[in-house]
Amino acid sequence: MIIGDARKEILNLPKELNFDLIFLDGFSPQKCPEIWSYEFLSQLKNKIKYEGYLITYTSAAAVRKSLKNLGFNLFNILPTLSNKNHWSDGTLATFDNQQNNPYIKQLSEMEIEHLNTKASIPYRDPTGEMLSKEILEIRKKEQQFSKLLDTNSWRKKWEMA
Ligand SMILES: C[S@@+](CC[C@H](N)C(=O)[O-])C[C@H]1O[C@@H](n2cnc3c(N)ncnc32)[C@H](O)[C@@H]1O
Repeated sequence: MIIGDARKEILNLPKELNFDLIFLDGFSPQKCPEIWSYEFLSQLKNKIKYEGYLITYTSAAAVRKSLKNLGFNLFNILPTLSNKNHWSDGTLATFDNQQNNPYIKQLSEMEIEHLNTKASIPYRDPTGEMLSKEILEIRKKEQQFSKLLDTNSWRKKWEMA
């Protein structure tokens, strides 16, 4: 067990150490954006074996879009509850095609569209030292100026509360 800021500690891991599985279980992206930033996810990418994968409970568009832009294939972890407000139990990201994994499915059309809304604007932390508040403020500004589809319109289209 390594205690410390994951953004710094990850840089101290031995170069040859790569993982079969990374389980990202931080507080939600809006609460703790530091560990969901494009830059931190990029560090995680460098520590995953080619046939390994990253899983997380979140289906946040910003996280998924960053993972997609980093070259991962994305899958929806099948929800244990099924209703239109609970459409996912999270995300599995991998370079492999996960053909025989019964716990996942391809992203739906609705989820793919989610990745083109303002919600998909990534959390950015280029220094690896930014405070949550700073990361959230910068993203909020970027969302205000963005011409991407408003996330509420996307929700309405798919008849979500
Ligand atoms: C939802 S809890 C997960 C706890 C753990 N997976 C468990 O099941 O007991 C999120 C954890 O992320 C830790 N955390 C938040 N920011 C972090 C950071 N920058 N580096 C490392 N850990 C961090 C918090 O202290 C908290 O313990």
